Amino acid sequence: MSSLPNLEGVDTPALLVDAEVLSANIARMAGLFTDRSQRLRPHAKTHKCAEIARMQMAAGAIGICCAKLSEAEALVSAGITDILITTPIIGNAKVARLVRLARHAAIKAVADSETCIRAYAMASEAHEIHLNVLIEVDVGQNRCGVRPGSSAFDLLELLSTFPSLRFCGLQGYQGAAQGIMAQDERFAANESALKSLLFTADLVRRRGYQIDVLTGGGSGSVEIDLQLGGLTELQPGSYVFMDTTYDRIQWGDPMSAPLFVPSLSVLTTVISRNDPKRAIVDVGWKALSSDAGLPRVKNRPDLRFDFAGDEHGVLQNVDGDAVKLEVGEQVELIPSHCDTTVALHDWLYVVRKGALEDRWLISARGCFQ
Ligand SMILES: Cc1ncc(COP(=O)(O)O)c(C=O)c1O
Repeated sequence: MSSLPNLEGVDTPALLVDAEVLSANIARMAGLFTDRSQRLRPHAKTHKCAEIARMQMAAGAIGICCAKLSEAEALVSAGITDILITTPIIGNAKVARLVRLARHAAIKAVADSETCIRAYAMASEAHEIHLNVLIEVDVGQNRCGVRPGSSAFDLLELLSTFPSLRFCGLQGYQGAAQGIMAQDERFAANESALKSLLFTADLVRRRGYQIDVLTGGGSGSVEIDLQLGGLTELQPGSYVFMDTTYDRIQWGDPMSAPLFVPSLSVLTTVISRNDPKRAIVDVGWKALSSDAGLPRVKNRPDLRFDFAGDEHGVLQNVDGDAVKLEVGEQVELIPSHCDTTVALHDWLYVVRKGALEDRWLISARGCFQ
């Protein structure tokens, strides 16, 4: 793109993605699904970006997931037309928007309460559409979802009284089991989550209900979920970008290269150097998330970053020596949590072999409702 500055000219702090690493992560994930019965429906809550959703679908994903209705609305507007919204949608005005969206795209919604199902039914009847609904099961996250086992029955019986609702299946996601570092412990935690979902699915089928979709899983459980079987769709998100939290986990084959590699960074500029042991940079909490701890300085193991306020950070030498950086020099930071960092930015600057190639709109920026 001719209107783009070179990388040094990008105003910082700026969110960068390494195009080659991103493509390799997307291809590697898609490759895991070759000759498998399971389908890949990546979670777009990580990137919120229509360009990346299109890359994932071009590589074989059957659609995407969104966490929120507004996120789905933004991505439908950007041309993505097959979306599972993985959080129950509550509130009459919001549910009316959901069914309007379902007129324009293949939308699936989840529910875990009677209130939610009744609202979905009323709105879809009023708008004369059929809404595809999954029941969410709490498989250990202690977040949304009915208890595993027969608790789904009451909701299913209610759901089946409404001709405007179509029961598609069950969702069960165990986020706390994704980032467990040791492969055997991560395996056990994810196996236990999967078992509660499959147990519930079995009871539901025995009651005579057909289950087309059993969905769950994340980047940390993808190898495990594929190996164990049972899910029909997997919804990993972070693998496109990775982060320092995910970068610590052990993959199935510890002797081979990691499955996915960090592609995301935040470019920051040194703006003050009044102490030989501290370089002050122009990024703080407003452009880099801190919920999962500190970022890592890319390609500079001699440096560590600390937050120094909303708009400031400080770089220090890990050995306490003087820091070798001049005012105006730039460094890249690998976020500790990709999703929450991406959500702070409007643009993703695409870098290939060190040169700026493009910039992509974070289409669903600010869409947390
Ligand atoms: C419901 C749901 N599914 C899938 C994911 C993707 O998981 P990950 O980012 O660990 O790949 C998330 C992430 O928070 C999620 O909340």
